[in-house]
Amino acid sequence: MVHVPKPADASHPSNRELLEIAREVAQIAAAHVRTRRPEVFGGDARGVSATASTPVHTKSTPTDPVTIVDTETEQLLRTLLAERRPEDLILGEEGGGQTESVRGIRWVLDPIDGTVNFLYGLPAYSVSVAAQVDGVSVAGVVVDVARDVTYSAARGEGATMTESDGPAVELTCNPVSELALALVATGFGYGASRRTVQGRIIAELLPRIRDIRRVGSAALDLCMVASGAVDAHFEHGLSPWDWAAGSLVAEEAGAAVVLPSPTSTTAGGSITVAVAPGIERKFLECLDSIGALDAIPID
Ligand code: IPD
Ligand code: CA
Repeated sequence: MVHVPKPADASHPSNRELLEIAREVAQIAAAHVRTRRPEVFGGDARGVSATASTPVHTKSTPTDPVTIVDTETEQLLRTLLAERRPEDLILGEEGGGQTESVRGIRWVLDPIDGTVNFLYGLPAYSVSVAAQVDGVSVAGVVVDVARDVTYSAARGEGATMTESDGPAVELTCNPVSELALALVATGFGYGASRRTVQGRIIAELLPRIRDIRRVGSAALDLCMVASGAVDAHFEHGLSPWDWAAGSLVAEEAGAAVVLPSPTSTTAGGSITVAVAPGIERKFLECLDSIGALDAIPID
């Protein structure tokens, strides 16, 4: 039988083209966040409280902040994407959007991942932009705002890291093979009851690994698996905007990845995992043995 190749779908850009758009808008948004922090909070934002007179409010719990910079940065991203891809769907942490049907191209945005760090002036917060096709990430960019480092990936094309105007460096996970030597990044939800279960899991995991890191931005945690700054990341209850870009960066750097359903949000409590390939089986077995692969559907 003669194989007739399918013609390229003109309405469907390549993963690389989507990546170029994601990188452009994410870097513009990151520059905005960088400029606005000192304008809004000055040099030291410690103790900023969520009152009507401050540019900080809270969301799911009193410890879950959203600042004026989160809101205006998401609006900036939406405007930039509407100019470039007016037909596509958008889901953003602050503005919401399409969650049920995920057919076609959907942009998934976190204007600031690591808002608590942003608020306190800890230099670990990021802008995260992903393009998904039918609910699967095909292009993803995470910009570490304070360090001015851009992590990028297009499905099937590998992952890179670029420092300011430096060259793009290919990313590969660490060649770790012993779970006992693995450095594991994790994070906690904002609700007290989920945190109680998360704390129990950490207590059981800690004696079996090298150590734990709680950086405060899940998107950066996932990119750190890709760059080898940690060996694995896991967290329960992440939303699509937390993992959509960073999980692709990790996967394209060789990580094994376990994701919640693309429609699942925080309330689902499912686990997200990215782990260096040499410890994939041992890490997943370990998580299973302490009951950590089950969802924590509370809060
Ligand atoms: C949070 C960060 C944090 C993770 C939380 C997320 P936000 O996102 O990614 O590391 O532990 O679960 O909600 O609120 O800063 O966008
Ligand atoms: Ca956020």
